[in-house]
Amino acid sequence: MRLILITIMGLVIFSCAPDKPQNQEGLPGQSSKNSAVEDILTDPTKGIGAVKSVTLNSPLEQDRISRGLAIYEMKCSACHRLDDKRVVGPGWKDITKNRKPEWIMNMITNVDVMLDQDPEAQKLLELCLMRMPNQNVSIGDARDLLEFMRQNDGEK
Ligand code: HEC
Repeated sequence: MRLILITIMGLVIFSCAPDKPQNQEGLPGQSSKNSAVEDILTDPTKGIGAVKSVTLNSPLEQDRISRGLAIYEMKCSACHRLDDKRVVGPGWKDITKNRKPEWIMNMITNVDVMLDQDPEAQKLLELCLMRMPNQNVSIGDARDLLEFMRQNDGEK
């Protein structure tokens, strides 16, 4: 019953733009100086997977951004736009403000487990009604994609 309701809501809203601030605390943009904090192992907002802690640098690393762009064009652009419009999956605009960097990288590199077990990933699945396929992205490539997303969100 709940599922049906959620599904209907998803169809009505017809958009995968993450329903506003789901995790208000600890926005990555604000804590970007040092995200390697203590709560590593048990923090559910970091998702499930090998990525436990990500160090974000400022200014952004340009070589990562260009590699990230290339991977995006090759493997992701069919389903993800860079604005907030959904194609198949959600648009990426503001993703780095709404999600922890670890969550994003675990979603990219461990998507099957995330869709099966992570509550936030499951909400997206209920909204998009399709499972993102495993793209065999390495952790290094996921880090490049994250840098590209940060630039897309206006970080310098
Ligand atoms: C075939 C379509 C498809 C492709 C290709 C694809 N994705 Fe996805 N992605 C989705 C869908 C659909 C979702 C929403 C979750 C679900 O339903 O599985 C999603 C969700 C995501 C999310 C979470 C979005 C959010 O708002 O929190 C991230 C991050 C992501 N994808 C990254 C990537 C990356 C990086 C690539 C390329 C390496 C990629 N995706 C390729 C379909 C795709």
